[in-house]
Amino acid sequence: MKLCIALDLPSAEENLALAESLKEYNIWMKIGFRAYIRDGKPFIKSLKKINPNFKLFLDLKLYDIPNTMADAAEEIAKLGIEMFNIHASAGEVAMRTVMDRLSTYKKRPLVLAVTALTSFDEKNFSSIYGKSIDEKAQEFAKMSYKNGLDGVVCSTFESQAIKTITSNNFLTLCPGIRPFGEDAGDQQRVANLELAKEQYVDFPVIGRPIYRDKNPKEKVEKILSIIEQ
Ligand code: C5P
Repeated sequence: MKLCIALDLPSAEENLALAESLKEYNIWMKIGFRAYIRDGKPFIKSLKKINPNFKLFLDLKLYDIPNTMADAAEEIAKLGIEMFNIHASAGEVAMRTVMDRLSTYKKRPLVLAVTALTSFDEKNFSSIYGKSIDEKAQEFAKMSYKNGLDGVVCSTFESQAIKTITSNNFLTLCPGIRPFGEDAGDQQRVANLELAKEQYVDFPVIGRPIYRDKNPKEKVEKILSIIEQ
């Protein structure tokens, strides 16, 4: 299991200060829409300058026609990040086109597919996808595996089932983790670290429980001690 911290603070300065305070750990960091749109490539460079061994996950959830997605994937591959994601609902052709295009890169980033956004409830989800979240998430995971992606973004509660129907090596990245039962905030289905371990989650994504803690470094150490057990 590898800790991935969501860099969701309101400014580049605050995100970089957090990264600076954690520079001794070779952890993963998630760069989302807000940070990337605002701070762009220089932000990636700054993070790598703080610790070249930080691993970066660019969470831009690509969704477009296959060729446009592959063009974007190629530009992302040039950024020097280690992982990014697309929407599984973009479909099989998009998945294959992205993976084919990236196959020309000697060291390509890992590619994950978003199965179901956690903001959906069952009713709204099925009005769009025509199936339950569980069923569709598994279908999307199978599709992603078959088309050569490295893993999926899913909820902790789906992680083990997804590995069972794909492969133990197929990665699961799961937001909504409250390591020690912290406040859920706006997350609906939260899980603690123990459950994430039981569910074989590869990347627990943790934001507020770390950056809102009065001592983020101590919190990270505590999390790592459990992850590494
Ligand atoms: O602060 P918290 O630990 O809830 O942060 C979770 C992070 O994961 C946020 O950056 C959020 O946008 C992201 N995320 C999520 N649910 C998804 C996909 C991404 O919470 N399905």
